[in-house]
Amino acid sequence: MRVLVTGGAGYIGSHTTLALLEAGHDVLVVDDLSNSSPTSLERVADLTGREPGFVEANVRDAEALDAAFTDFGPEAVIHFAGWKAVGESTQIPLTYYRENLGSTFTLLEVMATHGCRTIVFSSSATVYGDLSQPPFTEDSPTGATNPYGRTKHMIEQILADAAAADASLRVGVLRYFNPIGAHSSGRIGEDPKGIPNNLLPFVAQVASGRREKLMVFGDDYPTPDGTGQRDYIHVVDLAAGHLAALEYLTGHDGYHVWNLGTGNPTSVLDIRAAYAKASGVEIPYEVAPRRPGDVAASYANVELAAAELGWHAERSIAQACADTVRWQTANPDGYAD
Ligand code: NAD
Ligand code: WQD
Repeated sequence: MRVLVTGGAGYIGSHTTLALLEAGHDVLVVDDLSNSSPTSLERVADLTGREPGFVEANVRDAEALDAAFTDFGPEAVIHFAGWKAVGESTQIPLTYYRENLGSTFTLLEVMATHGCRTIVFSSSATVYGDLSQPPFTEDSPTGATNPYGRTKHMIEQILADAAAADASLRVGVLRYFNPIGAHSSGRIGEDPKGIPNNLLPFVAQVASGRREKLMVFGDDYPTPDGTGQRDYIHVVDLAAGHLAALEYLTGHDGYHVWNLGTGNPTSVLDIRAAYAKASGVEIPYEVAPRRPGDVAASYANVELAAAELGWHAERSIAQACADTVRWQTANPDGYAD
């Protein structure tokens, strides 16, 4: 299949591009490199022996996107491109609405012009917010508590409306839980700019000596050790979930939503211990106040993806930590460009 991957130079996009190429698909990446490096795609080409096409453009640029569709003729799109930092989204909300909603509108319009009917969209478990208790099923109530989350929630609704209006559309919404880890080669991984917002990249930088200690945001949650619990999923498993979704959509019209997680809750202190074990380095930490907006626990009910996609996460937290250590050790400054 010819698959156009927006945001394919980024963390999850590069791992998925690799998986697509390995499975024999042809890939064209459209990415403006606003939060990534072209080096990720060079390494994907090295690892697979196959070159993904690449267009450096903002997905909101209808002319560039139209030209990419004309040249490549995609049969399906995976839409990763988007801004993703929750805290930043409260500072520059309009940028988040413009980039995340705007890119989706342009993409859907250009897809329609070119008769491309299949789209897989990167949503987030953030849409479950604190509206109900985990494990979350795809039917759990959704909403959002910050501009980033609202863009995901709105795009889900836009896609559902578009699919309701056009019975030939095939839409797969993937609600990722907490992606972690790196390709086992250690050659591609997560390369956050500045101080990492997410737990695992922060822990990795403490282990490598780049940061002094981990601040644990709250140890008085109603969880077994008092720290927040999340559903951490290996990025290579997540990438495989996209291929399973694409395959499902080739036989099913309409709008579909799947949780992609492991179903297992893991605490902040569990992650610290797992990373210390994988790296052989102690991770000093200090308990800090709760981070505003955090929930005590978030993890998936993963039955629907198993039943419909035949997909489940296979890799452990220990493996994700070992793979992150390999990536971090070989690339202490990320892609360094
Ligand atoms: P990332 O920042 O590494 O990748 C996103 C890519 O999109 C980057 O390469 C960036 O340069 C590009 N991009 C952003 N806006 C663009 C635009 N308008 N036009 C063209 N390119 C653009 O992030 P990621 O972690 O790989 O996340 C991929 C997707 O998954 C995002 O939509 C994100 O919101 C979603 N998601 C991520 C997580 C997570 O924790 N990483 C969790 C849930 C959902
Ligand atoms: C995990 C746990 C923190 C950092 C975010 C987004 C979500 C999704 C994934 C995109 C929590 C604790 C963290 C630190 C800590 N992204 N923590 N010290 O908040 O579950 O989800 O990323 O869609 O939308 O909200 O992930 O990695 O930030 O935090 O104690 O320095 O680690 O409090 O319990 P989160 P996270």
